[in-house]
Amino acid sequence: MSRDAELAAQVAHADFNQPNIARMYDYHLGGSANFAVDRHTAEQALRIAPQELDYCWANRAFLGRVVRTLVTEYGLDQFLDLGSGVPTVGNVHEIAHEHNPSARVAYVDWEAIACHHARHLLGPDEWRVTVTEADVCEPEVVLNAAGVAGLLDFTRPIAVLAFGILDIIPTTDGAGLAARYRDACVSGSALAVSNNAQLTRSDEEVAGLRALLANTSTPNLHLRTPEEVAALMPGYTLLDPGVVPAPLWRPDRPVSEQEARRGNVYGAVGILR
Ligand SMILES: C[S@@+](CC[C@H](N)C(=O)[O-])C[C@H]1O[C@@H](n2cnc3c(N)ncnc32)[C@H](O)[C@@H]1O
Repeated sequence: MSRDAELAAQVAHADFNQPNIARMYDYHLGGSANFAVDRHTAEQALRIAPQELDYCWANRAFLGRVVRTLVTEYGLDQFLDLGSGVPTVGNVHEIAHEHNPSARVAYVDWEAIACHHARHLLGPDEWRVTVTEADVCEPEVVLNAAGVAGLLDFTRPIAVLAFGILDIIPTTDGAGLAARYRDACVSGSALAVSNNAQLTRSDEEVAGLRALLANTSTPNLHLRTPEEVAALMPGYTLLDPGVVPAPLWRPDRPVSEQEARRGNVYGAVGILR
């Protein structure tokens, strides 16, 4: 049996005929939770815009620094990861547990393979990490799901993670959606956002990527400016350095402006007032 057939057999309701962003992203990051159709589309994306790999790695590295910062400097120990993706390098729970073994992480994604892999990886760790298969555009469903409501204590601060998700959901009202999660959180909670941008992508590359994404299960790409990213986060005080190309958000090593821009992704983190 081929690897693809094996994967498909494990998750009966996975759609392996249509390219999927979670699995394309997994392929770009070197993972194995993807089908031929995902690999083909991911390779096409690289032909259109070779710097798409920079996006994936910049976004993932930003996520790691954010989680570490929130645990070690702000004492956050509860995470709600919206559009968490296929578990890959540097997962939220691994980073959080490195610094606080009792931190709780609720992963939410609507992609069947991503959720299957996450459950497989986590094993019997449900007292501190859960995986919920749900649409993040339905906050009431997400917030009331057993894996979220049963794991996270909403009377205490929670970090809502929105990495690479507010830019691909159908609505352009990302602020409205983020606010529904914000309103469930108490003061001292956090919101972390990464959002696709046009920093070094040409108009032709953006058009090509949009055409490619149109055939996937997430056909939207809402590029945002720093001001538009900040507008996703009303009620939050932005942590330094504010909204910046993600590699420049509290980097671990020297990063040139040119390298930072190649990621084509803005990042920001705020604390709820
Ligand atoms: C670009 S990946 C980002 C993964 C991860 N957050 C990261 O930044 O490394 C986007 C993820 O959002 C998920 N996603 C897209 N739309 C969604 C929705 N409406 N509800 C839940 N998950 C969604 C996809 O399945 C995919 O796993």
